[in-house]
Amino acid sequence: MKQAVILINPYLKTESEFYQPRRIREELMRLGVNADILPNRRTAHIGPGGAESVLGKYDVCVYLDKDRYVPRILEAQGMRLFNRASAVELCDDKMLTHIALAGKVPMPETYPAPLCYKQDAQPDGEEEIGEKLGYPLVVKECFGSFGEQVFLVGGKEELAARTRALRFKPHLLQKFIAESAGRDLRVIAVGGEVIACMKRTAKNDFRSNIERGGAGEPYEATEEIRAIARTVSAALGLDYCGIDLLFGKEGLLVCEVNSNAFFGGIERVTGTNVARAFALHICREMGF
Ligand SMILES: Nc1ncnc2c1ncn2[C@@H]1O[C@H](COP(=O)(O)OP(=O)(O)O)[C@@H](O)[C@H]1O
Ligand SMILES: [Mg+2]
Repeated sequence: MKQAVILINPYLKTESEFYQPRRIREELMRLGVNADILPNRRTAHIGPGGAESVLGKYDVCVYLDKDRYVPRILEAQGMRLFNRASAVELCDDKMLTHIALAGKVPMPETYPAPLCYKQDAQPDGEEEIGEKLGYPLVVKECFGSFGEQVFLVGGKEELAARTRALRFKPHLLQKFIAESAGRDLRVIAVGGEVIACMKRTAKNDFRSNIERGGAGEPYEATEEIRAIARTVSAALGLDYCGIDLLFGKEGLLVCEVNSNAFFGGIERVTGTNVARAFALHICREMGF
């Protein structure tokens, strides 16, 4: 029997956080693959003789954590990860995602904020970016989720305060896509193909994350959506992902890509068995 390990973040606690690994485990078992769920703690390290891991008995790893180091060590040892280490890295950092997709898919105009590492430094230069992008504009930390590190900035004083508060964290400044305020699309792609799509509408916010109270409804995956999903998955090397799309004046724009997007919400809204599709893809790719 083939052996799969599903690695999850060691700090997960709530029932809903265990839904995803449990469902993937269930579907892999149905396909005849034994699957264990393990917390990603002391999984791999650098020993005196080189890279070492405790996953020697496994044939494949479903990587649901966001840590960047363990996947690199596992891959160096020949493990196939779903998703691959480079895909996890490119998605985790929103600025790296935009750079990797530049010229391939439409995206909002985006500036990386200058890196600041001197304690006494005062950020400057943002005002010029603010004038170019116009107000309101969006400021985002490069690492974040659930809309928690995404801010709408109304004017130059607010921009100065926000960039000062974020000066030691990687962040970006982005054009606010006003047509899309409070609504967007969440697309799940497996092996580059769209398997589920929903429209999310916020209650009282420009951010439509379900975790912030946004409501989901099924949305038909058009050819435009399918083409974007294929390009994004190929460019970032993704097996599985959730893509957020904004409604721009001239078409859809890629907002961000999640390499480990939660699928409980979209399964409920669309009735799609996402875990099954992911498990089938893994077995196909591995030749199980
Ligand atoms: N440039 C933008 N213009 C309009 N709305 C945006 C923009 N960027 C983000 N949003 C809204 O904020 C939400 C959260 O942003 P996102 O980049 O997806 O961060 P997170 O990783 O926290 O979900 C999006 O789903 C979208 O509704
Ligand atoms: Mg998002």
